[in-house]
Amino acid sequence: MGTHRNGIGRRRFLAGSGLAAAGLLSMRGQARAGAQPPVAPGEPAARRAASVGDSHRGPCVIASGNGPNATERAFKVMSAGVDPAEAVVAGVKLVEDDPKDNSVGYGGLPNEEGVVELDASVMHGPTHKAGAVAGLRNIKNPAAVALKVLQRTDHVLLVGEGALRFARAHGFKEENLLTPESHAAWLRWREAMGADDWLNPEERDWPRPGKKTLEEFLAEEAKQSRGRDAGPIPFTWGTIHCSAVNRDGDVGSCTTTSGLSWKIPGRVGDSPIVGAGMYCENEVGAAGSTGRGESLIVNCGSFAIVQYMASGLTPTEACLATLKRIVDRTREKRLLNSKGRPNFNASVYALRKDGAYGGACIYPGGSFAVTTSDGETRVHPCAPLFEAE
Ligand code: GLY
Repeated sequence: MGTHRNGIGRRRFLAGSGLAAAGLLSMRGQARAGAQPPVAPGEPAARRAASVGDSHRGPCVIASGNGPNATERAFKVMSAGVDPAEAVVAGVKLVEDDPKDNSVGYGGLPNEEGVVELDASVMHGPTHKAGAVAGLRNIKNPAAVALKVLQRTDHVLLVGEGALRFARAHGFKEENLLTPESHAAWLRWREAMGADDWLNPEERDWPRPGKKTLEEFLAEEAKQSRGRDAGPIPFTWGTIHCSAVNRDGDVGSCTTTSGLSWKIPGRVGDSPIVGAGMYCENEVGAAGSTGRGESLIVNCGSFAIVQYMASGLTPTEACLATLKRIVDRTREKRLLNSKGRPNFNASVYALRKDGAYGGACIYPGGSFAVTTSDGETRVHPCAPLFEAE
């Protein structure tokens, strides 16, 4: 991997880290309507820094910020001549397999009953065909199953038990997707609910004063052997999206997730919904999303991004325009903060057929990974639509 910069491999560094050091990434941006001319000289520095990808040309792979390994892998696979749709599935597999990423595949946070249910979709630009699975249990790599739906069926979306049977028929191995950490997190969440028969440490008459419980001893022992603590109750809409364009201008797109943590069993997010969690058109480019899936579904988020690019917006502008649509159409009080803006974040990613790319988020904090035509992998901050709340 050669020399390292900022603790990240030579070919993979946080673009704009110098800007962060200079305080520019925390500059407070302005809300802006999406359909605007390319980044203007007076525009906030964070937005300007985040839109450098609009001028990139050539083969490229983009992913959500948790995917530098995925873009690097997908770029390598695609450069060997593999189709972009297959390459992105190969890329996201690394994140699906990673037990430390609690938003995807193995180690993903489970539903309210403690069962991991995975969603994924993949789309192939040249044939404009898609494959997807939703509510898939016990299979670590739902994106690969989605690819099989694309390649080996006349359908687009398989769900639940049917998706599992299809995966079995294609030789996918069933396994327990809960890690000790995600199982412990679910138990902490479940016991923190209150007003039911599940007792958290404050509610139960145990341990006896001054005594260590077996549970505490085992937790300490496990912590010593793993070198980390149980930590607070996590919560995520986390996901990985990955899109690619090759030197012929063919595009492919993929999104895979364990979805909203502690969800109602059967809840399906945007990730397996074509046009919501990902979408591509070979004549235009590809897009995808992470964040509150319900908002991306009702606004056809990824479809909107591709249509904005088709109408002439740059990838960064198309992402911002789509987030503006989501903001304008978020009307339920429970979803709004005191300023009348969404009380949730979402990040979106776009890759144009010519290799231009961009990412944006409603509020600062999102990032995206990209492997560019020079083979370099970087993580950029997303262009924020609003300043931090
Ligand atoms: N964006 C992932 C989900 O909402 O499930």
